[in-house]
Amino acid sequence: MSEWVRVCAAEEIDEEDLIRFDHGGCSFAVYNTEKGFFATDGYCSHEAQHLEDGLVMGTVIECPLHQGRFEITTGKALSAPVCVDLQTYPIKLEDGDIFIRL
Ligand code: FES
Repeated sequence: MSEWVRVCAAEEIDEEDLIRFDHGGCSFAVYNTEKGFFATDGYCSHEAQHLEDGLVMGTVIECPLHQGRFEITTGKALSAPVCVDLQTYPIKLEDGDIFIRL
C-alpha cells in the first residue's frame, strides 16, 4: 500500500540541489530542479554510494564517486559506469511542504 510521506519544507532544498531522505529503512534523494521537484532512489545503482553529495546539472544528477549520470525526471542511467536506472517516486507540494509517495 502506498502512502504520502512528508519530506521537508520546499524552501529547505536549494535550487539545483538535492537532499537525502531516509524512511522505513530506505533512502531517497529529493531534488529541486529547473523543472520542479523530483525523487529517486538515494543510492547509485553502480555501487553503494549515496547521491546526496552528487552534482545536479539541470535535470541530471552526477554521482560523486565515479561520475555516472542519471536523468532525474525518469531515473534513466545516462552514462558509464552506470547502466541500471534509478527508481523514481511521485512528489507533491502541499502548503509549501514536499511529500513523497512510497
Ligand atoms: S557509485 Fe555511482 S557511478 Fe559508481
